Amino acid sequence: MSLHIEAKPGDIAETVLISGDPKRARHIAETMLTDSSCFNEVRNMHGFTGSFEGKKISVMGTGMGMPSTAIYLHELMVDYQVKKVIRMGTCGCIQPGLELGHVIMAMGASTDSNINRSAFNGFDFAPLADYALLESARKAALEMGAETTVGNVFSTDLFYHPDDSKRYQVWMDHNILCVEMETAILYTMASRFGVSALSLLTVSDNILTKASASTLDRESAFTDMVQIALKIA
Ligand code: HPA
Repeated sequence: MSLHIEAKPGDIAETVLISGDPKRARHIAETMLTDSSCFNEVRNMHGFTGSFEGKKISVMGTGMGMPSTAIYLHELMVDYQVKKVIRMGTCGCIQPGLELGHVIMAMGASTDSNINRSAFNGFDFAPLADYALLESARKAALEMGAETTVGNVFSTDLFYHPDDSKRYQVWMDHNILCVEMETAILYTMASRFGVSALSLLTVSDNILTKASASTLDRESAFTDMVQIALKIA
């Protein structure tokens, strides 16, 4: 048991799939895993462990944004010795040609957050995906016939920003594919604690055209991303 997770030792698998929304974690556990059981109900941040093709896998919510995600990642990595974390998230794309539902694999994560600088004496750490995991995800996607894009993403602290129309221009100009809120801290903490990590992101919003997927569309658009995550888990 840790401060925010009530699981007993051994209840959580070495591989954990994370999602901001704990309801999505429940949905994946109920529809994709066999023999799943819930290991955490603290703050309704549900986590489940079950098996997929004979392999023990956990899936858990983290909440939105880096501060919430960092709490759960710390406890998973330090108190429960988790070794592999795959994020299944949503993002708003800021490059033309990326449709709603498209899957992005985050090779690196830029950020407007001070959360990393405070840990690196004011300097900038480059948060990167685990290369082997990224390569196997790409291979799994190719085998499934799922089109994916690999590149740099932007992890922001603010979903709503007073300067919304202008703030993404410089990131667009530097080939950032999309905006989300968790990957930079995931990759930094994975480096710190010797964990392999990869962030998979389904485009749920287009920040350029303001198109947005309905809740229902979001759920079905996740299928490719979840399949890729399970294949490399
Ligand atoms: N901004 C930040 N995070 C997001 C977005 C967005 O537009 N869409 C999905 N996650």
